[in-house]
Amino acid sequence: MIKTKNFTNLSDVPSKDLRKILKDARKRKNLRKKLNTLEIDRDAPLKGKLLIQMYEKSSLRTRLSFYLAIKQLGGGTITLRSNELHLGQGGESLADTAKILSTYGDAFMLRSDSDQKTENFKNYLSIPIINGLSPSSHPTQILSDIFTIEEIKKKPISKLTIAWIGDSNNVLNSLIVASVKFSFKLNIGCPKKFKPRKSLIDWVKKNNSKIFIYYDPKIAVKNVDVIFSDKVISLNDKVNKIKKLNHFKKFKINKKLMSFAKKDCIFLHCLPKGPEVSDEVFFGEQSKVWEQALNRVHVQKSILLYCFGKLR
Ligand code: CP
Ligand code: NVA
Repeated sequence: MIKTKNFTNLSDVPSKDLRKILKDARKRKNLRKKLNTLEIDRDAPLKGKLLIQMYEKSSLRTRLSFYLAIKQLGGGTITLRSNELHLGQGGESLADTAKILSTYGDAFMLRSDSDQKTENFKNYLSIPIINGLSPSSHPTQILSDIFTIEEIKKKPISKLTIAWIGDSNNVLNSLIVASVKFSFKLNIGCPKKFKPRKSLIDWVKKNNSKIFIYYDPKIAVKNVDVIFSDKVISLNDKVNKIKKLNHFKKFKINKKLMSFAKKDCIFLHCLPKGPEVSDEVFFGEQSKVWEQALNRVHVQKSILLYCFGKLR
């Protein structure tokens, strides 16, 4: 019997499997250069399979990229909003909901406002679960971003230095885990009050690795190959927004800050964007955010194949 797998945190996936996913994505992306958006890959490896997606928070990219991913693999998808289910109204247990999802569907993609809920679904489902963003991580985004970086830079990420300028949020948490899994140098530029949480820094140390935290963005980006950012106010943030944005004023990514990095440094952002980056940089030549967004389709296809135990 084929063994299926979950994809909820990069820390749970062995580095060799993450590499395998990237390799498969590269191969599949190359093979479908001449195909239209909804044409199915020749081998249709997930023919007849249903991916159920559930969103407790807004999404544009994740929803569309998983739609295209499963379609191109030969399967189909349905998207649920949790507040339209009995679960969201308090009329059905999570365990019963998970049982039904496992009865009708073949895989489940969840964007939840609670890490605990993602864990609970993982425990009750008998089909694979993919975390499509939680308050503490965004693993599909970061794996795809590693693909984008290696595709553009044409070298393994372990040979590059990446700088994150911004909040210590779910996307950064996954990037930190990735820096250990893929052995790349990661500089973080953030206000002291918003540095990564201690448990994650301890996890990095426990794994014999290191991240570099600076409270001056110019030092964080000095000679780096990639500058990466995200919104200062995340979907799960219940903070005084004006106060928080004020803390980040010095951390805005503009032409001047980009000039401290390498000449061929690229700018990435998972989107949607806020005021953390100037339009000049965001719409400028160094920005690769649109390629970055599209690559999510390709990498998520290989994540799906990994979950179905079908990665070659
Ligand atoms: N980057 C990302 O996950 O975008 P969405 O919130 O639109 O899915
Ligand atoms: N950190 C952001 C990412 C959005 C894709 C959020 O959680 O809202």
